[in-house]
Amino acid sequence: MVYAGEILVRKDAGRIDEINARLKLESMPGTVGIAHTRWATHGAPTAVNAHPHTDCSGRIAIVHNGVIENYLALKKELLDLDHSLASRTDSEVIAHLVEEYLRRGEQLEQAFRRALQRLEGSYAVALVSSLSPEKILAARRDAPLIIGVGKGFNMLASDITALLDMTKEMVFLHDGDMVVLTASGYVVLRIDTGETVERQVKVVDLTAEMAEKQGYPHFMLKEIFEQPETLRNSLKLQTEYVDLLAELLDRGRTIFLLGAGTSYNACVTGSYLFSQLARLPTLPVIASEFIPNYGASIGVDTVILAVSQSGETADVLSALEYARMRACTILGITNTVGSTLTRVSRAYVLQNAGPEIGVAATKTFTSQVLVLAKIALRLARLRGKIAQYEIDEFNSWLSRIPQAVSEALTRVNEPVRRLAESKVVFILGRGVSYSTALEGRLKLMELSYIPCITYPAGESKHGPISVIESGIPVIFVAPPDEYRKLNIGSIMEMKARGAYTVVVGDALDQELKQLADYYIEMPKIHPLLSPTTYIIPFQLLAYYTAIVKGHDPDKPRNLAKSITVP
Ligand code: F6R
Repeated sequence: MVYAGEILVRKDAGRIDEINARLKLESMPGTVGIAHTRWATHGAPTAVNAHPHTDCSGRIAIVHNGVIENYLALKKELLDLDHSLASRTDSEVIAHLVEEYLRRGEQLEQAFRRALQRLEGSYAVALVSSLSPEKILAARRDAPLIIGVGKGFNMLASDITALLDMTKEMVFLHDGDMVVLTASGYVVLRIDTGETVERQVKVVDLTAEMAEKQGYPHFMLKEIFEQPETLRNSLKLQTEYVDLLAELLDRGRTIFLLGAGTSYNACVTGSYLFSQLARLPTLPVIASEFIPNYGASIGVDTVILAVSQSGETADVLSALEYARMRACTILGITNTVGSTLTRVSRAYVLQNAGPEIGVAATKTFTSQVLVLAKIALRLARLRGKIAQYEIDEFNSWLSRIPQAVSEALTRVNEPVRRLAESKVVFILGRGVSYSTALEGRLKLMELSYIPCITYPAGESKHGPISVIESGIPVIFVAPPDEYRKLNIGSIMEMKARGAYTVVVGDALDQELKQLADYYIEMPKIHPLLSPTTYIIPFQLLAYYTAIVKGHDPDKPRNLAKSITVP
């Protein structure tokens, strides 16, 4: 808060209600203030890393949501200019940069704008200063920021849900906007040119609960449609941690990719990526089977990369504890900062997918695959298994994933009713698409409660094809890869036995299109990265099948979001 010519800061790490009870945030004096609940990306969730962050003089305080990608370079520059930075966050550099421009004689608003021009990455940032005690300065780029217009007051927030209890009149700031806010008004200007712009007030007629779901009837659907954005965030991983994981993986003699449920399925995708890109064989393993299957044979040269959205899954943690006692190297990929997995891992990477509320994992699966692909690429380079032009090419495929996922989200899914009426569904794939099939099966099964059978398509003749009879749906995951011809053979085989074949394949593959009873068109994508995009129709099919059958997609029966018992 800004009060009596000073900035008062209260902050801590922990649960919001406990911090509030301890620090009495609500009783802070003053009428101009900023606050932020930090979802840690850089630096652990500690009091010193909590927001707000202040400059050296204590005259400026900022809160920031997003990732400042060039913060290391900015931090070095500021340290060389004798600034002293207290935290390990990327955000703190913003306060000191503004201070630096003030030192050089700029006025506060201009200093803020100059500082913003130096930032690379994403931000919604708000600043208060004892130099201008009646104002809040704020700005956004690639992160949401909304003004709530009230009678006798104005507010800012990242999300309309935070404002709805106070006002329904909102101004949605555009990327590259900066705002100067007071209790009686606001001025919006462009960060790059400084020119002022008009932004319309919109009346948002939603309840807070509707707004939390952003107009979607369920969190699951919201999270499915959020994927282009979460994937863009996951693309902005801190490369130093990806490098560290790649180095430690490369030192192992035996490497396990360990997870449960969806996270295990991502491990299966990872094993194909590690093998095909980096020529590194790894063993994907279901967490609860790790000790019985491999416990007796692990040791100091074993590396385990554990994948867990929550970072708290009991089967994962007990496998890791067992492995730690035997001097294995533990690495982690998780979506949850401060989770047990982050504490037991020698090094970990955060997925940056944001909180997932729906019980069924959707956006966290695609982001896990993307993180694994980035590590695999790094490993390939480290091990000298890939030429520079191939690295560039693969990187450009990686950056196209969010767009491909957007396109996949527009595809209709007519077979829903047909699936909803089936007593069993087959989902088959070969190569990396086997992992897509595994995850497709899990989604369909946990939401529709229809038994699903998945195995690598080449296995049909070895037994399971005997189940096939007229009308049973068989869904093939068939991107245009080296298994295309074999897939055609498998589809014919199923058709000959009367199966109803659904094929998820490339939009331009006319031959497959003619062969399938129903064809789901996918955009062009590197076949090894296809799980990120080819899983989308399964997520949508699972969701709509649940709706048709009258199930709650956010809370499938017998399931919980985090399985903390073995
Ligand atoms: C499926 C699902 C579960 C989780 C599994 C592991 O939609 O959500 O199968 O994937 O319980 O959870 P994490 O990733 O938190 O270890």
